[in-house]
Amino acid sequence: METPVSTEDIRTRVGIVGAGPAGLLLARMLQLNGIDSVILERRSRAYVLSRVRAGVLEKGTVDTLMQVGAGARLQREGIRHETFQLRFNGEYHRIPMVDENGRYLTTYGQARIVEDLITLREADALPIHFEAQVDRFEDVTGNPSIHFTEGGVAKTLRCDFIAGCDGFKGVSRAHIPGTAEASYLREYPFAWFGILADAPPHAELRGFCHSRRGLAVASARSAKISRQYLQVPPDFAIGSMTDEQIWDELDRRMDDGSGNRLNRGPILEKSVARLRGFVCTTMQYGKLCIAGDAAHIVPPSGAKGLNSAVGDVRVLAETITRYLQKGDAQLLDNYSQTCLQRIWPTVHWSCQMSDALHMFPGQSEFDTQMQYATLRSWMTTALGQQRFREAMLGLPYPV
Ligand code: APR
Repeated sequence: METPVSTEDIRTRVGIVGAGPAGLLLARMLQLNGIDSVILERRSRAYVLSRVRAGVLEKGTVDTLMQVGAGARLQREGIRHETFQLRFNGEYHRIPMVDENGRYLTTYGQARIVEDLITLREADALPIHFEAQVDRFEDVTGNPSIHFTEGGVAKTLRCDFIAGCDGFKGVSRAHIPGTAEASYLREYPFAWFGILADAPPHAELRGFCHSRRGLAVASARSAKISRQYLQVPPDFAIGSMTDEQIWDELDRRMDDGSGNRLNRGPILEKSVARLRGFVCTTMQYGKLCIAGDAAHIVPPSGAKGLNSAVGDVRVLAETITRYLQKGDAQLLDNYSQTCLQRIWPTVHWSCQMSDALHMFPGQSEFDTQMQYATLRSWMTTALGQQRFREAMLGLPYPV
């Protein structure tokens, strides 16, 4: 059916595509800098709030959310991690995870961060258009406009700047010339099967376990809700295991001879995520910048997806503010390089973790021993622990 001709034109300063953590945080930071924005999100409000994804936060991410006034519940309910547990080859390692600057990791579900930011925005009666599918941009080097469809009607958002925070499968990246040539991708030959369970996290049975049956991860989302992952084949079907079989497999892989077993409970959500590493090194064109998953994807092994999106958004908020308020394009012209200073080492770490923790199809016994040697070097040497801690706690922000 033909989409009716546009009946509505909207005007704002910054058009933001995507109401994920990147788009919502950017809108909040711009708001605090006195810059108006409109968020266009193709999914419904309920869907966006129901998405269960990341949840391990660097100190920098926690501080950033606190700085923008979105940290009250996080401060109350976030779980602080003083140690990191790793099991492999019948060995159990638990290393301190607080660095000399007092930094530590916090678990607090991404879905809650998204809810906290949406609640703040709605409380200030600021625009988020849900179920607004962005189709294309126009004139991003001159007078940018965003063409989108909402309620079956074609509409146009006219703005001074466009922020593409629409994830890996969004439309923004395609509006930057040369991104195909400037993109680097690695697909891993396995996936993560994640469950969210109404069962308290086990204090002793936590962290990563390298098992010859494949990786297992036991994490927390709150004092009552736990999150677990199993390494599975890329074509794994969610319905192919009963809940009982899922718990049995998790316990089998996490078994360290201590007799500890995960706390079981109703499984609230199940999802499968392919593991890939992706970086697009051209993140800006004219008055269009991309951030977060729109520009890079990391395998979840390093818990860096959400944290690196926050790193980009801090740079982008400063870039847009200097450009729109002072006409200063210096950061805009260097936006990609500035973000990549933090993105490449973060992607590198996430891939190093993935290479050391998973069983690859057909991997040799020699390779497995090399994995053990890598994991042991991170857990049992002072330099290794420092490397591990610094990488997990996160790199300084370029801006
Ligand atoms: N029109 C409107 N909205 C769109 C379009 C489009 N054409 N395409 C995608 N979107 C929306 C998606 O529906 C999604 O809500 O953009 C949003 C992108 O959000 P995320 O995928 O969460 O990406 P980002 O905000 O960059 O968050 C990145 O969070 O969960 C972690 O691992 C995840 O690392 C990732 C981080």
